[in-house]
Amino acid sequence: MKGSMWPIQTANKAKRILWGPPQNQISWAYMKELRERDKTQKIYDCNPYYEVYQFGENLYGIFANNCDGMGDVWMYVIIGPEKAMLIDTAFGLGDMKALIDEITGGMPLLVVNTHSGPDHCLGNVRFDKVYCHEYAIYNIQQKCKPHAWDYLFNKNGENIWLEFDRSDIPEYKDYELIPVQNHHVFDLGGGYEVELVWMPGHDSGHAMFLDRSGKRLIAGDDVCSDVIACGSGGRPDDPYAKYCTIEAYRDELEKLCKRLEEFDYIFPGHFMVNLENHLLLDILETLNQILSDPENYDYKMESVSGNGGAKRTSLYKYIKGFSVVSYSEKGVYTPKE
Ligand SMILES: [Fe+2]
Repeated sequence: MKGSMWPIQTANKAKRILWGPPQNQISWAYMKELRERDKTQKIYDCNPYYEVYQFGENLYGIFANNCDGMGDVWMYVIIGPEKAMLIDTAFGLGDMKALIDEITGGMPLLVVNTHSGPDHCLGNVRFDKVYCHEYAIYNIQQKCKPHAWDYLFNKNGENIWLEFDRSDIPEYKDYELIPVQNHHVFDLGGGYEVELVWMPGHDSGHAMFLDRSGKRLIAGDDVCSDVIACGSGGRPDDPYAKYCTIEAYRDELEKLCKRLEEFDYIFPGHFMVNLENHLLLDILETLNQILSDPENYDYKMESVSGNGGAKRTSLYKYIKGFSVVSYSEKGVYTPKE
């Protein structure tokens, strides 16, 4: 075999055709071990595009191949006493409602988004109501709209990055996207609480979900064992673009780092999961290093995004013992009013 990211063998119906930028060796080796050997893995007949893993007594991770060339994605299901919560909806491939019902036994469901990445929110159209942080509304509406899936196919209608049946892509339909504020608490019944924690950086309205009862943090893309892509400066049309900065992420992460006793493990939106809470202190240290001297990055790289984005140059700073933070020159400091 040649190159990197050799195929991982599972019964998942989706098969990789093409990757965007390669992911790091550590994440890939971890995913190979997990996906080929984990005893909890289940692939359901009602929707064979996903691999379901049980990470805790009431926590499931749903592995979704990224339909474009970027990194594969985790959705999570938390089973509460009376309701279940689905965190993120990926691209919406196949009958997602049937899959979630299989996992939860048909429990009432709350659906939430961490942020507006197409790999996290296009499946929203499979549900009637989705909650997100108030600053994420605009970006999610810009991404999850009619024809949002067209870029996954070439002009001959062939899949570019991932092999799947085109008929399994959802039809766009309107759904209710409900904004909530920072620290909104979702009640899964019997006093089981999950708190939305606004954590900008990767996206202006990015949220983490603090499963207070399960003592876990579902971290979205602000924690990633491959690259934590923060500090892009944001989309020009995003009314909250000013929060796509290293500084905005640092400010909110600093507050969360004072609450480490409230959760033990971190479950990110991509790759390695079950990371220990004190990792956040190392990420915080890296963000502070960038802010004190943004020019002192470890390396610089030009990349073309695997989801149809433009070519861009990013700066990278290592997080000790873990991963890297990427940023751009205009995405370091939060512009003052
Ligand atoms: Fe993502």
